Amino acid sequence: MTKKLTVAEIRAMKATGEKITMLTAYDASFARLLEVAGIDMLLVGDSLGMVLLGYDSTVPVTMDEMIHHAKAVRRGAPSSLVVGDMPFMSYQVSIPDAIANAGRFMKEAGCDAVKLEGGQEVCPTVSALVQAGIPVIGHIGLTPQTAGQLGGYKVQGKDLDSARKQLADAQALEVAGVFALVLECVPATLAEMITKTIGIPTIGIGAGVGCDGQVLVTHDMLGMFEKHIPSFVKKYSHLATQIKEAVTDYKHEVKTKAYPDVAHSFTMKSDVVEALKESM
Ligand code: KIV
Repeated sequence: MTKKLTVAEIRAMKATGEKITMLTAYDASFARLLEVAGIDMLLVGDSLGMVLLGYDSTVPVTMDEMIHHAKAVRRGAPSSLVVGDMPFMSYQVSIPDAIANAGRFMKEAGCDAVKLEGGQEVCPTVSALVQAGIPVIGHIGLTPQTAGQLGGYKVQGKDLDSARKQLADAQALEVAGVFALVLECVPATLAEMITKTIGIPTIGIGAGVGCDGQVLVTHDMLGMFEKHIPSFVKKYSHLATQIKEAVTDYKHEVKTKAYPDVAHSFTMKSDVVEALKESM
């Protein structure tokens, strides 16, 4: 069994230069595989709304849905640092609400930290969560919960004003107390500048190699989708093709009675068979 990394150890990886690995997990079986592979942090992302639940965006995802999946991830990966992603409107309404919801991730699901989206506007909430004893990861750049306000799923920080805003947001979040910061869809040069400017680790997704770590949606990097996936995603496998081939083979073998064969069936002793026949 691997030793669970602590928040302090994640922070320390910035100084040693060891890159931090993070992937999304939404259920126990995937979480187990990621833990065995030695991924540093598992994110129960609200992306589960689109990846698993079939929503068009992350906006409809509820706290109850997040807790349900976070519990499964914790069961599958008892030795991993698990981060619960605060869904839309679970931290924006009021600070007491945010503390109560983040507390649910820790108490009910056994998460080690939470993540929330936003820049300077969420800093009072971040400070309150940290004071309440809840480790927080920030998330700036493209923030999917408010993608509509940003003009869609677009790269952020390309012009001077927007780049300055990203930098100011990163610095403010560090002061507010986040222990790491996700940078999503920002130019690699800007991500590198932010990484060099702040004292906490940056975790990039579509933000180039200059970040202190990387995160991807596991289903994207495994090639489980055939529809559009972001250009920054590298497919390390092509599971959609493999799954379709396997399912087609299964269908063919069932239809042609090739499955189940003797190797995949249970047998009975012949004397039991004979006795049974006689008693019928
Ligand atoms: O919800 C999610 O999966 C995320 C990552 C893409 C960072 O926030």
